[in-house]
Amino acid sequence: MRHVLALDQGTTSSRAIAFDAQGRVAAVAQREFAQHFPHPGWVEHDAAEIWATQRTVAQECVQKLASALAGQARAAIKIEAIGITNQRETTVLWDRATGEPVGPAIVWQDRRTTAHCDDLRRAGKAPLIQRKTGLVLDSYFSATKLEWLLDQIPGNRARAEAGELAFGTVDSWLIYKLTQGRVHATDASNAARTMLMNIHTLAWDEELLSLFNIPRAVLPRIVPSSGVLGETAPGVLGEAPIPIAGVAGDQQAATFGQACFAPGMAKNTYGTGCFMLMNTGDVAVASRNRLLTTVGWQGPEQAGERRTAYCLEGSVFMAGATVQWLRDGLQMIQSASEIEALAASVDDTRDVFLVPAFAGLGAPDWDGRARGTLVGLTRGTTRAHIARAALEAIALQSADLFGAMVGDAGIQLTELRVDGGASRNDLLMQLQADLLGVPVVRPQVTETTALGAAYLAGLATGVWSGGAQIAAQWAVGRRFEPMLPEPERLARIGRWREAVERARGWARD
Ligand code: G3P
Repeated sequence: MRHVLALDQGTTSSRAIAFDAQGRVAAVAQREFAQHFPHPGWVEHDAAEIWATQRTVAQECVQKLASALAGQARAAIKIEAIGITNQRETTVLWDRATGEPVGPAIVWQDRRTTAHCDDLRRAGKAPLIQRKTGLVLDSYFSATKLEWLLDQIPGNRARAEAGELAFGTVDSWLIYKLTQGRVHATDASNAARTMLMNIHTLAWDEELLSLFNIPRAVLPRIVPSSGVLGETAPGVLGEAPIPIAGVAGDQQAATFGQACFAPGMAKNTYGTGCFMLMNTGDVAVASRNRLLTTVGWQGPEQAGERRTAYCLEGSVFMAGATVQWLRDGLQMIQSASEIEALAASVDDTRDVFLVPAFAGLGAPDWDGRARGTLVGLTRGTTRAHIARAALEAIALQSADLFGAMVGDAGIQLTELRVDGGASRNDLLMQLQADLLGVPVVRPQVTETTALGAAYLAGLATGVWSGGAQIAAQWAVGRRFEPMLPEPERLARIGRWREAVERARGWARD
């Protein structure tokens, strides 16, 4: 039996999942790690902890797989390849010689460079950036975070220019650690989120490097998303080297795992944030509705060629993290899974809206100064109404993205594939179908992020033959049909937009 190990390094947890050749989950291990909020709007991780938790769960997962297969042939435990998928944009800078970080990992949600982005916008740089990178000028992406690490931590810039430091998004960081410094690489889908790569040439862009003052010496090599780029060093995950053969940002990997291979197919992943991606084929479609144009993946080599798939993307910064805030910040619930029953205990929110702009607003509003807002409270409001408003907020933000995507694509999307932790929440999925006005389709395997990374790695190592085989393995778990009459749907979205306006522009610095 052949297995592929997916390492899924997310914003709040590190996970490892072993898949069998049918694309079924064979073993899972997961660990949460610390989130640091040193100032309002700042979000940091400790890169060393990211690596430690990721390595531990990978080892645990392999052990679980071995126990699950105990009694079967020993050869059954062979891991054919590793696929890496990761929280994107989060920026790590480390010492090439020691492999130690030289600053915090600045998380994608971090807003510390908002004012700098405002300056660049005033200087008229946004159109150039959008043309080359497909991105909206925003502190979400890595470029200004890396600039901050180089300039605000004494000594870093000089050391970077001397070639002593390495930059990477989390995929690069994990590859560096897995290969014990032998490989410093990132894939095109992750590089597309740095704001430093030209998405049309798939190469680092000189003009952008000079705009953000980034020395070329810190940059990783850009490699395809599917292809052997190196192997694990002895002792890191057992003695036998394992090929690292697939890498993609978590949202692009989920799109691949959902088998959205044809232009016009779209998925929404409910993780810490919520990310809707639609495949646009080999055309990088420029958005007219403030969505992002991004590299989906650079696929496996076929007949000497690699095809690049592009996507349109809408990014919502707070989805599952809103529920986490109700649990940890307000202590309104004890575990995230409690929210479904609490929200279902009332029929509606009684016109309460929660705008979860805790980290500003992403697409389509792009407001780094928006902040979380709860409106419509009355003496009759209970925690159940707030819990329901939190779920509705996740669905309403996704409905905004869906509207923008339909506008950009010029076609009516007929359904939306969903995945990620909160896609198992039936109430949320029903609310989502109601607010989109189209069916929401949940596959049997909702671990599509990890599955996508496994597929990319397995395609490069002969575990799977091609997209057709992968598409055939995709199966519907449950379909949610929209039930809300159209006028009510539109009224609800209109009221939500009023609430969003109240959240905008709140932060002063
Ligand atoms: O762009 C950020 C995204 O990659 C984070 O994903 O799953 O950790 O919310 P997730």
